[in-house]
Amino acid sequence: MAEIIQKELPPDHNLYYLGDYHEGAKAQSASSLEQAIEMIRTDPIGWAVVMGDLAEAILVDDSRFAISTIEEAKTSVFHQYVSITDKHRPIAKKIIYIHTGNHDLKLERKGVGDMVRDYVCKELGVPYGGYTAVLDILHKKKTSGKQHKVYTSHGWGVLRSAADDLIRAHSNKLLSLKRRLKHKFGSASAMIMGNAHQLIVSPPMGGLYLVDEAGVIKQRYTIERHEGLYVDPDHRWYGCSGCFLRTTIPGVTTYAELHGYDPVEIGMLRMVVRDSNIKDIERVVL
Ligand SMILES: [Fe+2]
Repeated sequence: MAEIIQKELPPDHNLYYLGDYHEGAKAQSASSLEQAIEMIRTDPIGWAVVMGDLAEAILVDDSRFAISTIEEAKTSVFHQYVSITDKHRPIAKKIIYIHTGNHDLKLERKGVGDMVRDYVCKELGVPYGGYTAVLDILHKKKTSGKQHKVYTSHGWGVLRSAADDLIRAHSNKLLSLKRRLKHKFGSASAMIMGNAHQLIVSPPMGGLYLVDEAGVIKQRYTIERHEGLYVDPDHRWYGCSGCFLRTTIPGVTTYAELHGYDPVEIGMLRMVVRDSNIKDIERVVL
């Protein structure tokens, strides 16, 4: 279910995208999550979108379940959601919406319900973002028109590359991210997903073109401000919002370790918007 969320913000704001906490997993970097929440809380122009996979939420009958990987005090999935909700209380008023993730939704298919929609969002008084959402940022004065739109989703699949060189491997990941997102929505200037546990950003690429002005040839780029309908896929930002789940920790054989996943950076994304324009999407490594 896709949600459309409209939000009035001042023309200068920082928008943080963070998620994939997997609360309950011993491998979670709890100190990094604490740092992230504190960073958002103390940012006077900071807002947040939570990207889903709030809790590990793996039930006993699941083949991925291993008691040794779960924190002793949080073996109940209910406690996982209570605990992650409490961690968000200091920034509840700054969260624009919360996505549900594939880990969260598994519980719905087991008859438990979507704890993000039915518990976390209600408890914090924050809108539910479904699996996928369109975020329409508006000016406080309705007459001044639109600012920008962002398409966000918990996301799909992994972003991996078998290329042997780091340059090629990185660009392959960016290409898969872009390919996965670009046809999902047409009028967003940025498209962000979680799920893949990668902290990567692909900035817009603008075609160079020449024009003649008063008898002189000038260079211009095809990237311009987009307020309207279709934004060329090459002119959009793409991002994957990282995670707070380490692949390897001492004393525990994690799911990631068993499957041979490479280490991932722990962190989140910060979209820097000034004068209603997306100036940058920064990787915040924690
Ligand atoms: Fe995840």
